[in-house]
Amino acid sequence: MNWYGRSLASAGLAALAGLGFLSAQAQAQAYPTRSITMIVPFAAGGPTDVIARIVTGHMAQTLGQSIIIENVVGAGGTTATTRASKAANDGYTLITGHMGTHAASVPLYPKLAYHPEKDFEPVGLLAGTPILILARKDFPPKDLKEFITYVKANESKVNAAHAGVGSVSNVSCELLNSILGVKPIGVPFNGTGPAMNALVGGQVDYMCDQIVNAVPQINGGTIKAYAVATAERNPSLPNVPTTAEAGLPAFQAQAWNAIFAPKGTPADVVAKLNAAIVKALDDENVRKRLLELGSVIPAAADRTPAALGTLVKNEIAKWTPVLKAVN
Ligand code: MLT
Repeated sequence: MNWYGRSLASAGLAALAGLGFLSAQAQAQAYPTRSITMIVPFAAGGPTDVIARIVTGHMAQTLGQSIIIENVVGAGGTTATTRASKAANDGYTLITGHMGTHAASVPLYPKLAYHPEKDFEPVGLLAGTPILILARKDFPPKDLKEFITYVKANESKVNAAHAGVGSVSNVSCELLNSILGVKPIGVPFNGTGPAMNALVGGQVDYMCDQIVNAVPQINGGTIKAYAVATAERNPSLPNVPTTAEAGLPAFQAQAWNAIFAPKGTPADVVAKLNAAIVKALDDENVRKRLLELGSVIPAAADRTPAALGTLVKNEIAKWTPVLKAVN
């Protein structure tokens, strides 16, 4: 069938679907017949937004429908995630969540209006994102050892930027600060996109952020990177030492970003979306863009919806005692 025939067919299906004539099964088989909304729980330009746009840009080609990014900010990403949990489970409203919205927020918000496991269908993992300890360019410490001494000595004066309670930038620096035994002033933003602008501008002192948000600034010399909190150095930043090399092996932190759909989204809709994610992660241009920003591209075994469901369960179990101890 040529493009004209296909567009007539999908228009016809859309009309029938719109009139409710198609069964749920038939609608799922025809999915998607219109554009899809992808909620991003943080401001444009931050790590979650950048990863979502790179991957969904390719997914849209596979699915034959546009995927419209909607940045919904507030409360460390839980405002958007609550909204997504209550959206129609028809596959036309999705969310790019992460270790914060779909794990760390559970112990941090006792009255959280959703549960990552009960209120969402895991669709697929997009990228692992190692955490970096970053500082403004003229922050006095020259290396991590000096950073630790300086922050301890100036605890009441230094400030740490983050994207709201429960965000990756918040919980990873909570872990760092608890290891150091310090309580700096927290400066919240609607995402680490705007927070990075403040760090580059020297308005905040330091931040724990996902690597994809920092590589351009580090390579451009507009901020400092003291260390990456993973066992190995990251290929996109060969000169940035690991926390172990820099003298703080206890601080290990890697986040991840993934796509979720509201609970009850039909299995074959989830399967179609997952297949489009997998195709995007195998596309050389998508891979190039994710890797040059320091992302860890999931191995095949980690790309299934079930694998994401297991990751969410394990991450909630991992961060709950850590954050309860911190708080
Ligand atoms: C965070 O959790 O810190 C967010 O991912 C930041 C962002 O994406 O803007």
